[in-house]
Amino acid sequence: MSTVISKSGEQFLYQQVIELIGAMQESGTLNPGDKLPSLRKLSAQLSVSIPTVKQAYIELERLGKVEARPKSGYFLRAASFEISSPKRPRFVRRPVPVRCQTLIEEAYEAVHAPNTIPLGVSHPVMASPPDKTLARIMRRVLANAGPKVMAYGPMDGYLPLKRQIAQRYLERGVEARHEDIIVTNGAQEALAIALQSVAKAGDIVAVESPTYFGILELIENLGMMALEIPTCADGICLDDLQESLDEHRVTCCVFSSLINNPTGSCMSDEKRQSIVEILEAKNIPLIEDDVYGELHFDDEDVLPMQAYSKKGLVITCSSFSKTAAPSYRVGWILSNRFEQKAKGLKRALSCSSSLLNQWVINEYLRSGDYDRNIKRLRQVLRTNKERMRALIAESFPEKTCISDPQGGGVVWVELPVGCDSTDLFHLSVESGISITPGVLFSASGKYKRCARISYGLPWDETVEDAVKRVGKLAHQLLND
Ligand SMILES: Cc1ncc(COP(=O)(O)O)c(C=O)c1O
Repeated sequence: MSTVISKSGEQFLYQQVIELIGAMQESGTLNPGDKLPSLRKLSAQLSVSIPTVKQAYIELERLGKVEARPKSGYFLRAASFEISSPKRPRFVRRPVPVRCQTLIEEAYEAVHAPNTIPLGVSHPVMASPPDKTLARIMRRVLANAGPKVMAYGPMDGYLPLKRQIAQRYLERGVEARHEDIIVTNGAQEALAIALQSVAKAGDIVAVESPTYFGILELIENLGMMALEIPTCADGICLDDLQESLDEHRVTCCVFSSLINNPTGSCMSDEKRQSIVEILEAKNIPLIEDDVYGELHFDDEDVLPMQAYSKKGLVITCSSFSKTAAPSYRVGWILSNRFEQKAKGLKRALSCSSSLLNQWVINEYLRSGDYDRNIKRLRQVLRTNKERMRALIAESFPEKTCISDPQGGGVVWVELPVGCDSTDLFHLSVESGISITPGVLFSASGKYKRCARISYGLPWDETVEDAVKRVGKLAHQLLND
């Protein structure tokens, strides 16, 4: 790096520092997601004061070029000022039956095909997997607990784990008792139980649009109707929600608690509280899907919507799939007023969840390693996000729009007119790469030009090469 700072020139010193950072970026010394040199280090290197470097960093932050992370320093962002977010499509407020299973099946097959680079799956913990820690704990549990871990566990879950989940809620300000928690096979089973606890075939379920396709698949299988509520940059559009509730007899809502899958958008506390108030005023149960609650990039603890419930109509579904290990299938439901119904459904559906896996997760939480890894994981995911956005902006056709996720491990990409994402999905699969086509995230066939791409992977040349190849295929589709 050139360390030439002119103290006699006309330009302010901090502006020269900004230019130096720009030059480092242009030369490839600094890349999106990289940490900028510390204030102390750069001030010593350039022989300027720490406040001068700080002023430069604050200005870069104001311009959206770097982000400050509490206790971690400043990090270079993708050129977000040049990347626009996907646009909101036109909506007709009408409940529709869902038909998405065939393509979901193809998307799942693509993820699990041998030697496929899985950019189509949302498993953010794989960016910093705790496999060695979990293996160590598993060996210890098997050695010490004896055959009882091989038995059926209690129907509603392993008590010490339920106590810890309840304790974690209490620490976040939610009054949850361990008696209120049922451990499930992942959040997917929790969502299935929740939906069947409050609604039946033919009922109207309001969902965000776009939304996680697993919810749509449940609605399809249970013979319910989906009513899509548009989302804006900061989550569900409240006016649309109000108007939809006025126009239709909505039986329940299924909304992400904080971070939307696939866009990564994050709802403010005020908005989340308003949603609970609007719904409880009309006695409509809300099922909140909180699987990404601990993976928001803002280091502050955020309350689940459960915390704002006054009438007990909020059901919270979550799991350790995104933060510990998806294969363990350990999730839970906090079912509030619907507890008896939920317990009956759990018994009927799967009797109980793996006791061994619950035991291991319980020990993992108790050791403190879970929280330590979450901290690390958030940092890695934030860095990966910037790299992914920059790489897509560089490799995909002009006018591609990319979301700016506030948490989780996926970006939502809108391709230019003329580029169909289901075609891109098929071409990518032929090249050994999975992505998720946009239509899967809508009950009414929206998002034909959108795709979800995961950055929740250990970042390496294989991932970079895969993204570039998908970009080339998108160019090819446009030119055909
Ligand atoms: C938003 C959302 N909810 C629920 C699930 C299901 O989670 P689990 O693997 O714990 O069943 C997923 C998994 O991708 C998800 O993205």
